[in-house]
Amino acid sequence: EKVVLAYSGGLDTTAIIPWLKENYDYEVICCCIDVGQESELDGLEERAKLSGAEKLYILDVVDEFCDDYIMPCVKANAIYENKYLLGTSMARPLIAQKLVEIARKENAVAICHGATGKGNDQVRFELGIKALAPDIKIIAPWRCNETWKMQSRQDEIDYCKEHGIDLPFSTDSSYSRDRNLWHISHEGLELEDPAQEPNYNHLLVLGVTPEEAPDEPEYVSMTFEKGVPTSVNGKEMKVSDIIRELNALGGKHGIGIIDIVENRVVGMKSRGVYETPGGTILMEAHQQLEELILDRATYTVKKEMGNKFADIVYEGKWFTPLREAVQAFVDSTQEYVTGEVKFKLYKGNIIKAGTTSPYSLYSETLASFTTGELYDHHDAEGFINLFGLPLKVRAMKMAEAQNK
Ligand code: ARG
Ligand code: SIN
Repeated sequence: EKVVLAYSGGLDTTAIIPWLKENYDYEVICCCIDVGQESELDGLEERAKLSGAEKLYILDVVDEFCDDYIMPCVKANAIYENKYLLGTSMARPLIAQKLVEIARKENAVAICHGATGKGNDQVRFELGIKALAPDIKIIAPWRCNETWKMQSRQDEIDYCKEHGIDLPFSTDSSYSRDRNLWHISHEGLELEDPAQEPNYNHLLVLGVTPEEAPDEPEYVSMTFEKGVPTSVNGKEMKVSDIIRELNALGGKHGIGIIDIVENRVVGMKSRGVYETPGGTILMEAHQQLEELILDRATYTVKKEMGNKFADIVYEGKWFTPLREAVQAFVDSTQEYVTGEVKFKLYKGNIIKAGTTSPYSLYSETLASFTTGELYDHHDAEGFINLFGLPLKVRAMKMAEAQNK
């Protein structure tokens, strides 16, 4: 029988290979799903085989990640708890889907992942697997107290060595990180104490702090069609290249670094720092366009739907009818989200430098303070009388009651 293992090549998932063989007697099929983590893929196959795996799949799903997972989140302006741009959350269902595909192809009976029992990732992987392959057994070594005895990197290295796997892993533990095309997350070390300032010089991977950013601002322009970005600085590119380009620019100018104490699905609060340089620029540009294009009533409901979408993604409920329905709503609001946005990037700030759209609802004549044709100031008086009627009636009634 076979098990498919979500494999990164790191120490944690490498130690799982001999552990699976020892405890389950499965053939281990490793699966490394490339969502833009930029990890060293060279030598990965050798490493997996050396560790006792039968086979290694490497799947490049970066463009699928962009089109089917990142873009729906951008269109929805999905931001968790007002800050987190969901980089890790949005990749998990795609990884689950690919693990299931490989499991089917290999006729595997189980899927194994290396997420801990304290986090959100276990929830996301497993809800994804349950939704797509309810018959497949799920193995989460970190939750197997009886058989998974390793508590530190040194323990894992020792365990590997005992099983004849001698690979050059370092013993010092760094932050717990998760990287993909959209972002990198950092948790652990000094971040575990919210009273401490993050050690940014040690921590940052995708860019610099605002203090270290250039003293000269830099302009960037983007075009969108139906809510999807189509070019940067006049160059047409596919979405993944746009994100790469914006990551470089944003990283250089200290954009998109957030420090948050968030509420995990499993109950505890946890502190993390996220770098989402390109994503922050892209989301802001998209919102900028929507400001011009969406009517007020749609905008109000969309904001709520966007928050709902963020919760759904955070909680790993991607493969659900609710996610599909909310996404369909959001999609229908994007029909006219087309136009160009220009920003000035400067020391961690995104400064607006002009937005245009053929579908802008903004009317200068209507908004300007000089009298125009469409708007008769006198109409406002009647409007306010009716709009304010319940307030006025209440005030009168209260005064009457108090005088009794
Ligand atoms: N707290 C974030 C989230 O739940 C990031 C999780 C990072 N995961 C990791 N395996 N390091 O989406
Ligand atoms: C983990 O526990 O595997 C990482 C953190 C998380 O999933 O929230």
